[in-house]
Amino acid sequence: MSINLETKLGYMILKNPILASAGPITDRYEKITRLVDMNVGGVYTKSVCLERKPRNFYMAELRGAFMDSEPCLYIEEWLERIKISDSYKYAHNRGAVLLVEMDVKNSNEVYEVLSRTYPYADGYEIHLPHFKDFNDLPQAVRHIKSHDKLASVKLGANDWKAIKDLINLSMRSGVDAIHINNPDFPGLALDLSTHVPIKMINLKPVLGSVVGWITGSAALRYYVQKNIYDIKQAYPEISVIGSGGIRSGKDVFEMLSVGADAVALCSVAILEGFEAFKRVIEELSKVIIELNFTSVNEITGLLLKELFKPGPPIQPSINTELCTGCKLCEVSCPNNAIRVINNKAVLDPALCVICGLCYSRCRFGAIKFS
Ligand SMILES: Cc1cc2nc3c(=O)[nH]c(=O)nc-3n(C[C@H](O)[C@H](O)[C@H](O)COP(=O)(O)O)c2cc1C
Ligand code: SF4
Ligand code: SF4
Repeated sequence: MSINLETKLGYMILKNPILASAGPITDRYEKITRLVDMNVGGVYTKSVCLERKPRNFYMAELRGAFMDSEPCLYIEEWLERIKISDSYKYAHNRGAVLLVEMDVKNSNEVYEVLSRTYPYADGYEIHLPHFKDFNDLPQAVRHIKSHDKLASVKLGANDWKAIKDLINLSMRSGVDAIHINNPDFPGLALDLSTHVPIKMINLKPVLGSVVGWITGSAALRYYVQKNIYDIKQAYPEISVIGSGGIRSGKDVFEMLSVGADAVALCSVAILEGFEAFKRVIEELSKVIIELNFTSVNEITGLLLKELFKPGPPIQPSINTELCTGCKLCEVSCPNNAIRVINNKAVLDPALCVICGLCYSRCRFGAIKFS
């Protein structure tokens, strides 16, 4: 069965919604070509900036997450490594788009990056945490759009009010798309799940004991998804790219169904290799087929109308044929409303507060809410 993975981003059609996100996976021409060979819909180049940053930084694998403090690349080095015209041609010949991520401070810097790269990019993204003067954002977006390129901003914040202000500002500035990311959550980890920090502990600062940004975490993915949902409720017409913690095709499906038009992945490819992209694209097709859809178009925003619709409270029911008596529901029920008796779960309706936890804990599909 053939699945149509195409998705719309602003005025552009992507061959599939999976983008390589800016980072060490996209900081060289050779890496960009490999990502394109993995069939990604597009690549965000490693952030370019107009000031030289020290190239000593920390990265660490953490339990269920990743820690990163890698800075942007100075434009001269960026141009040398990325070989933008070659990257662009390679991507285009294989139907992928090339998007330039920018850590710029103002519209003059945007203009400078554009003037050195514009024939060779489909779009430009301003990473908002680095942009200094928000009154200057409309001018920055005008520069991008005057070159007929897709203009987007990348943002994340720790509360919805801050996000809403940034979105309103971006909408007023005329962007085509919003890339919603985990906020630059600073983290500090002494991760004893790996051996290196334990060995290093008496010698020098421990990996992760510097401030880095947490990426690659499922918890952040859920946070990003809530923001995407809220953005699409408020601005259904804006294109949204979501990134943070995506590791599988099911994760992509989830993010698309709460409203993302495309997604971007980074940490999973650092940890697993670039083949992760191929795997995730294949898994997305599989889950679309399993759920009886035929295109990405059908699943984008699927849950926007249905989610959080008030309905009559329904108590769980237990299918005793499927119940194995594993007790996961009993262990976790906050109200002791479910007990395993004679190897089968039994519900006490008088105690059940209909929180749904038992349903999510059961690995055997034995609990239903219908
Ligand atoms: C080592 C590393 C370097 C990164 N560098 C950049 C960057 O230069 N510019 C940028 O916009 N995002 C950068 N990011 C953030 C990623 O593009 C992505 O948005 C974030 O990691 C969340 O996705 P993930 O959980 O799939 O990694 C970097 C992430 C990592 C892990
Ligand atoms: S979690 Fe599911 S299988 Fe396990 S005891 Fe409860 S209902 Fe039965
Ligand atoms: S819905 Fe919540 S309260 Fe009711 S049985 Fe399940 S876990 Fe317990």
